[in-house]
Amino acid sequence: MDFEKIASTYGTPCFVYDFDNISKKYDELKMAFKARKSLVCYAVKANSNLSLLQHLGNTGAGADCVSVGEIRRAICAGIKPYKIIFSGVGKKDSEIEFALLQDILLVNIESSQELICVEQVAKKLGKKARISVRINPNIDPKTHSYISTGLHENKFGVDIDEAKRLYIYVKSSKYLEPIGVHMHIGSQLTQLQPIRDAVAIVANLARNLKALDIDIKFFDVGGGLAIKYTDEKLINMTDYSQMILDELHGLDVTIVAEPGRYIVGQSGYLLTKVLYEKTNESKRFVIVDAAMNDFIRPALYQEAHKINLYGKTTQGSLCSIVGPVCESGDFFAKNIKFPATKSGDLVIINDTGAYGYTMSSNYNTRGKAVQVAVQGGADRCISRAETFDDMIKLEIEFIKGVI
Ligand code: LLP
Repeated sequence: MDFEKIASTYGTPCFVYDFDNISKKYDELKMAFKARKSLVCYAVKANSNLSLLQHLGNTGAGADCVSVGEIRRAICAGIKPYKIIFSGVGKKDSEIEFALLQDILLVNIESSQELICVEQVAKKLGKKARISVRINPNIDPKTHSYISTGLHENKFGVDIDEAKRLYIYVKSSKYLEPIGVHMHIGSQLTQLQPIRDAVAIVANLARNLKALDIDIKFFDVGGGLAIKYTDEKLINMTDYSQMILDELHGLDVTIVAEPGRYIVGQSGYLLTKVLYEKTNESKRFVIVDAAMNDFIRPALYQEAHKINLYGKTTQGSLCSIVGPVCESGDFFAKNIKFPATKSGDLVIINDTGAYGYTMSSNYNTRGKAVQVAVQGGADRCISRAETFDDMIKLEIEFIKGVI
C-alpha cells in the first residue's frame, strides 16, 4: 500500500483499512465452519464505519450489536435484520422496542430482570420476542482482565442454573420464544482450552433444553479470537472450528460466531506524521500528530502495537513514541528501538483496525481522524476528518456572546 500517497492525499492522522483483507478473514472463518450451517455476526463495536459494515454485509456477514446505535448502523449499511443479534448487560426499554420492531434475529438476555423487560415490551407490541440467554460459564479465559468476561466475578451473562430457570420460564411465556444459547468468555483469546470448556458447558445445557422440548436452533460461540500484535501464539483456525464441531456433536444447530478483532484488526493502519523529536536528559521522545484520543489501546491495555517509520528498516536508538495530548499516558510505544526521524516523516502504527476509531474521542478538543478504505488497489475516503465546527455543534447554540 502506498501509505505516503494516502497520507498526502487525506492528511494525518489517518486510519487506513484494507477491505480485501477484511473479506479474506471473513471467508476464512466462514470456511472453517463449512461442515455446518453457520452465521458470522461481525461484532460492530470493533469498527463500526458504515462503508466497512456495508462491505462485510455484501460478503454475507450479519452483525452482533450492543446498542440501538449499532443496530441502526448495521441496518443503515444494508445488513438484513434477520442476521442481527443484540447483546449487552444494560439494554433500555426503548432499545429493546426498536430491536423488536426491526424484527432482528434475536435478543440475547443477560439477566432475569432484563428477560421480564423484554417480555413486557413484546407484550406491548403484540409480538413474540426471539431470545437466547448468555451463559456465564465461570471459566478464566486467560486474557487481560479488562476484556475477560466469562467468570462469575464479571458482570456478563447468567450462571448455568439461572439460565435453566430462565429457559423454563420462557417456554411458558406467550411473548417469548427461546431459539438460541450464547457465550462469550473474553477477547484477544490465545488459548483454546478455556473456550472448549465453555462450549462443553453450554452444549450440555443445549442438550438438556432439547430434552425439555425447548428447541435451540442457534448456538452462539461468541467472538474473542486473538490476533498477533507482537509475539502472541494464536489459536489455529482448524483446531478452533474442529473443537466446536466436536463439542456440538448430536446437536442440530446453526453455529453463530461473533468475531470483531479477528476480522478487522490486522487490516487497519494508523498513519501519523512526526512533529518533533526531543531528548529529556538521556530520554528520547518522538512526538507524532496522532494521540491517545485517536488510538487508546496502548494507554488503556498497555498493548504493544508494531510501529515503523515508513520505508525504513533500520532499528535506531531507544525512544518513546508519544502524542500531543497532555498526559504521560499518551504514548504509542515505550522504549522501542526506532530510527532517527525528522519532522514530516511518516509513522505507521499497525493492527489498528479493531477498537481503534470506535474508541477514539475528542479529548483535548482534537477532531477524529479521517478514515480511508483501500480495495482492489484503489483508495477512497469513508469518513472525513472531524472539524472544529463538528466538535462544537452540540454546544454552540447554548452560549451567549461572541461567536
Ligand atoms: N461478542 C461479545 C458479546 C463481545 O462483548 C465482544 C467484545 C465480541 C463479541 C467481539 O470480541 P472480539 O472478537 O473482537 O475479541 N476494547 C478492547 C476489546 C473489548 C471487547 C469487548 N467485547 C480491546 O481493544 O482490546
